Amino acid sequence: MAIAVYPGSFDPITHGHIDIVRRARKLFDTLYVAVVANPHKQPTFSLEERVEITNAALAEEGVNGIEVISFDGLLVDCARERGVDAIVRGLRANADFEYEFQMALTNRDLAPEFESVFFMTAKRYSFLTSSNVKEICKYGGDISTFVPESVENALRAKLQRGD
Ligand code: PNS
Repeated sequence: MAIAVYPGSFDPITHGHIDIVRRARKLFDTLYVAVVANPHKQPTFSLEERVEITNAALAEEGVNGIEVISFDGLLVDCARERGVDAIVRGLRANADFEYEFQMALTNRDLAPEFESVFFMTAKRYSFLTSSNVKEICKYGGDISTFVPESVENALRAKLQRGD
């Protein structure tokens, strides 16, 4: 039984993330989507909201059999607790490489038992980021091709409230 964890900020989840989930799910018997409690940047959505939005988005897209969890602290500690074999990450354009390389090697120093596995993004999501989606939404642009409807609604509600 191969178990993997796909960690991220998911602030919010996009079609790019969902594409990675769909593909990783084919290779692993169990896949956890792990929402980090304290991302590098101040998140738009609270941890609870990000977990809820992620669950709703996966359900809307018909992606079943995924457990959405959250973690606070080190990813490798979360991975140990769940007994995972691999850490899944998506790679978009070149810009991701340096950051992902550094993170994978650091995680390997901390916990050599986990393998980091990278999925190349689908071409149409190469430059899709949660930050871009939020900016486009904030200024009234159309984000319907980037995120599921439930995520779009959550973003509009959040931005309209102005918090
Ligand atoms: O979606 P993101 O923001 O690119 O995800 C980054 C994430 C959550 C994978 C990374 O910041 C992380 O693993 N944070 C937990 C803290 C940790 O383990 N740091 C050491 C790894 S370099």
